[in-house]
Order: sequence, then C-alpha cells, then structure tokens
Amino acid sequence: MNKEKSAFFDCQADEEWADAAYTIEEIAKVNQLIQQTGIKHGSRIIEPGCGTGRLTEILEKTIGDQGHLIAFDISSKMIEKCSKRLYARHNVSIHLTAVEDFVFEKQSVDYIVCHQVFPHFDDKKLAVRLLSKALKPDGKFIVFHFKNSSWINDIHRKASAVVIHDMLPSDQEMSLLFKGLGMKIETLRDDDQGYFLSAIFDKNERNQFKNLCCG
Ligand SMILES: C[S@@+](CC[C@H](N)C(=O)[O-])C[C@H]1O[C@@H](n2cnc3c(N)ncnc32)[C@H](O)[C@@H]1O
Repeated sequence: MNKEKSAFFDCQADEEWADAAYTIEEIAKVNQLIQQTGIKHGSRIIEPGCGTGRLTEILEKTIGDQGHLIAFDISSKMIEKCSKRLYARHNVSIHLTAVEDFVFEKQSVDYIVCHQVFPHFDDKKLAVRLLSKALKPDGKFIVFHFKNSSWINDIHRKASAVVIHDMLPSDQEMSLLFKGLGMKIETLRDDDQGYFLSAIFDKNERNQFKNLCCG
C-alpha cells in the first residue's frame, strides 16, 4: 500500500468533497450512472476507493439483499466513515486495503465501479488486470467521475505533490489498457457532465483466441 497516499487521504476524510451529502446535481449523475449501467437488485459489485461511502450507500440500496458489494479503500479514516455509514448492512463487505493487495474471487461480479479513484491507482495496468479478473464474462468495468478529465487532472496537479502524477489517462491510453486484457470500451463520455467509461469483454477477441488455440 502507498503509505504516503493513504496518509494524504486520511487528512481529506472530513473535507466537504469527501464527506458532504451529494448535491442534487451529483444525485442526478449517480442516478444516470445506475440507469446507464443497468445496476439493479441482485447485482454484484466491487467498488475500489469507496472513500466515506457516499456512493456505496446508494449502490447498497440499489442492489438490495440479493446483491453483494465489496468496498475498499487505502485510507483508514475513509474506511471508518464508510463502515459507520453502512453499519450492519449484510450485503456489503468493507476492507482497508489497496486494489493491488486484495485477493478477488475470479469471475464473481457484474460490475467494477471506479468512482473518482482511477487516477490514483499507481499502476493502472495492474489495477485493471486484477479487477477485470473478478468480472463475470458479461460484466462491466466502469470509470465514473462527476467532472471531466481536464478538470480532474488540473485539480490533482494543484492539490499536492502526493497526487501530482495521478492523471486520468487519455482516451487512447484507456483503450489500450482494456484492449490488452481482451476488453473494449463500449462508451466513453468526457464532457461538461463529467467522465463516464464502460468497458466490456470483447467477444470477437475471445473467439479469435479460441480459433487460434483450437484450430
Ligand atoms: C478522490 S477519493 C474518492 C472517494 C470516493 N470514491 C468518492 O467519490 O467520494 C479517492 C479514494 O481512493 C482511495 N485510493 C487511492 N488509491 C487507492 C488504491 N490503490 N486502492 C484502493 N483505494 C485507493 C483513496 O484513499 C481515496 O479515498
């Protein structure tokens, strides 16, 4: 775990951006996320970098008793708040860990939801590889931000030396990251409404691989 980064986010846990109730505009964006991705009752989700659990709480209600959500974060202060917020919810497990250190069950979830965390993964290739292994063959890998990439990257450049290199990759870099794992981007929106990427396994790639292996 990157100790410097976890200490940085510990100090941010009481900040408005991390803990305040969502604005009406943010709630509308979360509702759109749920509608667009098809997250529903019974869905199984992994949410890396859950922070204080504001999205976790909404996702938990959406998936209900039949669903399951694994939420984790590298900041103990964030996890403390998230655990209080989600107290006694049996369909959620909350962990203090980095994505790089968590052992995911293979092909076990319908969605990976990276909400405002993707730029902070130190090794994005590794993070995507580990997380995508946990996706079912028809699962979706979501990267979602309330703001667009230029806004996010600019904020990180100015915020602190700890996150100065935490950039959201370009569309092309993102495409290559997923392509390397047999996935393809089905939607990428980066505009004044924020950033939304959805990647799925590329069935053509899988068939080509099968043909190569099996003649
Ligand atoms: C900008 S905050 C977003 C928190 C929350 N998703 C939200 O939108 O309010 C990024 C979070 O990711 C966590 N984080 C950073 N790197 C991580 C990693 N490698 N694995 C898991 N969590 C990480 C940080 O501790 C922080 O809480």
